[in-house]
Amino acid sequence: MSDGARPAPHVFAVFGGAGDLAKRKLLPALCRAAMADRLGEGTVILGIGRDSEMTDDAYRQLVREALAEGGISEADQDAWCDRCVYYQSIGDGEAQDYTALRVRIEAIEAAHDLSGHRAFYLATPPGAFAPTVRGLGGAGLNGGDGTTVRLVVEKPFGHDLESAQELNRIVHDHFDESQIYRIDHYLGKETVQNLLAFRFANPVFESLWNRHYVDNVQITVAEPLGVEGRAGYYDGVGALRDMIQNHLTQILTLVAMEAPVSMEADAIRNEKVRVLHSTDPPDPDDLVRGQYERGTLDGQAVPAYRDAEAVRDDSTAETFVALKLNVDNWRWKDVPFYLRTGKRLPEARSQIAVTFREPPVCFFQDAEAGCDLDTNVLLITLQPNEGFDLRFQVKTPSTPMAMSPQTLRFRYNEAFDSLPDAYETLLVDVLQGDQTLFVRSDEVEAAWTLYEPLLDRTDVAPYDAGTWGPPEADQLLEREGCRWRTP
Ligand code: BG6
Repeated sequence: MSDGARPAPHVFAVFGGAGDLAKRKLLPALCRAAMADRLGEGTVILGIGRDSEMTDDAYRQLVREALAEGGISEADQDAWCDRCVYYQSIGDGEAQDYTALRVRIEAIEAAHDLSGHRAFYLATPPGAFAPTVRGLGGAGLNGGDGTTVRLVVEKPFGHDLESAQELNRIVHDHFDESQIYRIDHYLGKETVQNLLAFRFANPVFESLWNRHYVDNVQITVAEPLGVEGRAGYYDGVGALRDMIQNHLTQILTLVAMEAPVSMEADAIRNEKVRVLHSTDPPDPDDLVRGQYERGTLDGQAVPAYRDAEAVRDDSTAETFVALKLNVDNWRWKDVPFYLRTGKRLPEARSQIAVTFREPPVCFFQDAEAGCDLDTNVLLITLQPNEGFDLRFQVKTPSTPMAMSPQTLRFRYNEAFDSLPDAYETLLVDVLQGDQTLFVRSDEVEAAWTLYEPLLDRTDVAPYDAGTWGPPEADQLLEREGCRWRTP
């Protein structure tokens, strides 16, 4: 993992520099990192887009507006934009456009006395990834010549296994794997990174982290948001591809992996890949796909998914997924991992719930619950209100031996200042050349392999917006004597 040293000054070039992701996430994150002295002194941002009319000044104005939206002060906006922001059109993406890009980068480097450290961030629609990579390679913008080049690729990396393999082949034709940073922004979240610290700095938990003590693991990423404005993308994708294959699977690997031989990027990624190789593709009966109908959220009426603009009337895109996975290895054999995500759920909550086994002998039978004591549960809340809750049983005072579940609690906001933004963390890591929090080629392919048999499914169980998904998601656990621990 990176040592936190300040990176070399770079030309940080963003394809899709005037697009939604750049405006909402990347530009504010880069500016905050610059203001916190986390970018190399003199780092230059080069927005790249198709608009051939856009000037540097017009782009700086666009950036200022994005920064203002992102809550960055006017003084910081001016200081940053006037000093180091440029724009370059890539026209129709022909060879001569990439040659012009190269000439422009060299001119900027000469003007700013930069030494050839370059990062290219592909924040474009996925269809543009392959042509952009070819364009960069064709123009010699892929390293060599005394330059150091890193390529950052947004999600989705492929649409299925075959397209991910094809994209990997194209990228590898022009770039070495050591130059490639596949983004999964969940890995940049402080609480997700902390899974490694929590597990491997705390032997008290790690010694229980196995099939002998753990009954089941649940990973939930719930969102009240719908797909407004993104339906054009989402309707062809659905929650399995949008969230499960990447974000939730990444969390799964960090929860289930073995201790790495070191904290080096590849040592950690090797262990994550091993988890994926040990995991069986889900049984078709262990997958629930749902789609929200109209309902009520926070007292407001919410229309159905199919009523959103750009969604087909007969769409079978899933806005909710619940599934069971078996990590079939020495540590986790027979411990179910339940994954669940959905849009238009009652609240925003990303949480891991590790439920431990019940005591082998039931001494404290409860008249109402029989022997079904609410067992020890560790809740790791990734967002919001980040923290840990460990549930355990306490004898209720003044009763013969009645149990009362109580909680040991830790909250980040009571112990630390605010948590850094995921994109800021990841962008600084790119500039430092630290690949730990990025997805390796074999990892992305192993994740697609896992879900490949489920990608063609079209059945969708309806659920009302503002509920925790279709009843089938509860039944998935109930049939094994379990229940969801979130909320
Ligand atoms: C994105 C998905 O990758 O992650 C979105 O495309 C989703 O559909 C988002 O809303 C969730 O991210 P976060 O950080 O808000 O939990």
